Amino acid sequence: MGPMNLGTASVRRIAAGETELVLDAARGSRPRILHWGTVLSETRDDELLLLSSRPWAHGGPDVAIPASFSNELGAGLAGPTGLLAHRDGRHWATCLTVESVEQDAPHRVRVVCSDPRAAVRVIYNLDIDTDSQVLSATSTLENTGDDDLAVDWCAALCLPLDSRLRTLRSFTGRWAGEFQPQDVPIFRGSFVRENRRGRTSHDSFPALIARADNTAEQSGPAAAFQLAWSGNHRLRVDGHNDGRTFVQMGELLLPGEMLLAPGERYTTPALIAAHSDAGLSHVSQRFHAHALRHAGGGRLHRKPRPVHYNTWEAVYFDHGEARLLELVDQAAAIGAERFVLDDGWFGSRRDETRGLGDWWVASERYPNGLDPIAQRLREHGMEFGLWFEPEMVNPDSDLFRAHPDWVLGVDALVQVPSRHQYVLDLTRPEVVDHLYERIAAIVEQYDVDYIKWDMNRDLHHPASDGHAAVHGQTRAVYGLMARLRERFPELEMESCASGGGRADFGVLRHADRVWLSDNNDAGDRQQIQRGASYVLPLAITGTHVGPRECHITRRVYSMAYRSATAIFGHMGLELDLSEETDADLDTLRRAIALHKRHRELIHGGRHVRLDTPDYLVAFGVVAQGAQSALFSCAKVAGHATTLPTELRLAGLEPQRHYRLRLIWPDDYAPITAPSLVETADLLGNGSVFSGEALMRHGIPLPLMHPDSCLVFHLAGTDTTSA
Ligand code: GLA
Repeated sequence: MGPMNLGTASVRRIAAGETELVLDAARGSRPRILHWGTVLSETRDDELLLLSSRPWAHGGPDVAIPASFSNELGAGLAGPTGLLAHRDGRHWATCLTVESVEQDAPHRVRVVCSDPRAAVRVIYNLDIDTDSQVLSATSTLENTGDDDLAVDWCAALCLPLDSRLRTLRSFTGRWAGEFQPQDVPIFRGSFVRENRRGRTSHDSFPALIARADNTAEQSGPAAAFQLAWSGNHRLRVDGHNDGRTFVQMGELLLPGEMLLAPGERYTTPALIAAHSDAGLSHVSQRFHAHALRHAGGGRLHRKPRPVHYNTWEAVYFDHGEARLLELVDQAAAIGAERFVLDDGWFGSRRDETRGLGDWWVASERYPNGLDPIAQRLREHGMEFGLWFEPEMVNPDSDLFRAHPDWVLGVDALVQVPSRHQYVLDLTRPEVVDHLYERIAAIVEQYDVDYIKWDMNRDLHHPASDGHAAVHGQTRAVYGLMARLRERFPELEMESCASGGGRADFGVLRHADRVWLSDNNDAGDRQQIQRGASYVLPLAITGTHVGPRECHITRRVYSMAYRSATAIFGHMGLELDLSEETDADLDTLRRAIALHKRHRELIHGGRHVRLDTPDYLVAFGVVAQGAQSALFSCAKVAGHATTLPTELRLAGLEPQRHYRLRLIWPDDYAPITAPSLVETADLLGNGSVFSGEALMRHGIPLPLMHPDSCLVFHLAGTDTTSA
């Protein structure tokens, strides 16, 4: 008997660059994914169909049940479903079949499915970004029936996972300790992260990365997934007992939160997925490229990212015109280009307990308004940034006194205290209108260039009129940001939530920068920034030089180390400059100058993390085309050997030659000499090495003190001699 004759008309391929998604979507059948990963250019559709067949196995159904886009309950699959919806307890066994397939471009497809018995339609939008090659998937659930449809769970897609990927990385963390990777083996059963905090959260960043046993930063298969959403979420990886594994991500809906009236639709947040056969750094690069293209509405590349000065750790709530003018002058003198006036400039806000919500300038602190500050900034050619926390209100505020009913809450439940503030109910249009008008008035009056948009508490009782409202609240926040951006097209925004509590790809459609952590401790920051780099590009990651003695950890670091750590990101300063020594200020000035010299590379290059022992945190940014690069190597702990390991670089052209120099610290003092620093004149003209030697042999590191960081520069050269 020859192979079965399989009709291939139902096979659809969408592709961009090296990435391909192959579907089997025959009209009247359940749609399924045949392949997602590297393009299978030599493979015919019928080969793929044959290779995707599965036999039945004893102890289960008499026929193998194929997976589908949502693994619906009505199909008879035993594993967790991607769709839970019902009408008052009936019509829950959905089974979706293809109605139509629309492909208007080679990289995207729309698959419309329906279940007439359950009276639902689901429209899957699958799109491979032509630049970054990441897959974006959403599903839109439509109630085609005559009565209400309650939606309990709707994943964007059930994406089958390559069986070689056996380890799962997720991210946990806390305030001042975000983006801590944690790894678990992928097992039969379910790995589930649920976030009910009403914001993206510090402890469950909505991203997962799967890798094979032999995957490293620059080699091996890997796949990464994230949910572009700033509200509640559920991430799950389900290892079915038939050997298949699926990834699902979606919005965690609270009881009754999503009730669709006849004709109404619900669209999931986007699942964004990247794959690579070339290691973890490569999947991150794909996420980075996607973020750079879409963040801030896609306008990130218009101008260099200005160096920030942020007032928070310099003055906290101790505001006043004279003091602030002094800070403006100091910040300008050292090289800052944007001045962000943080919390404390408005209403009766003298500490955390009051004034939040009263968005007018505190006249007793600023009798002349903010004009003198705005004017001084313009004289220095600096941009003006202002802090807002639009979604919140202190009970001790004029706003709350006037509108005590404007907050989210559950009747008869006392609000959980959290930073002395309540959450405004943004699902009420009058609340959003009020915020829009107040913020727009200030932005207009002072020609504000930048908003630091903060959000400092979880939503413990997120109900509006008794109904769960995180979905509506999250959409309303996006809507308010979009409305402000529409009115002020040049206005930039930073997303902050007690540090990195809202740094996801959903808010990044509106924001231009994220504040990664309130913790400016350089040692902790090396780890937090490395964790974040799995997902976020350096160009949008706020990194600040903090005070000599860190306010959060009380650790004391050299200015060289603090600066080196902040150079690799959207650099800023957040310290009282008058407390620093002249020598340290000079070091800082030189670090800012160095950042400016190289920021095009830092913000536009390919980010490569290096595999090192745990006492080092090392990575590089390599220019597109690999003609130049910077590498950072921080020593974050001691080591058992007398000398540290050699540093194997990555991402270079093996055949190309590079002039290697050590550019930071620029006043490098050896612990022992000579090391390569002296023998290869790395502080002077440097020496020329092949990319091959730098990557395969590696650089012998000099002895380094813990809490220090070396920055190497590589420039491609035609010379092959030293
Ligand atoms: C949060 C932010 C900080 C700062 C304070 C102000 O904690 O993360 O950067 O803006 O609020 O209250």
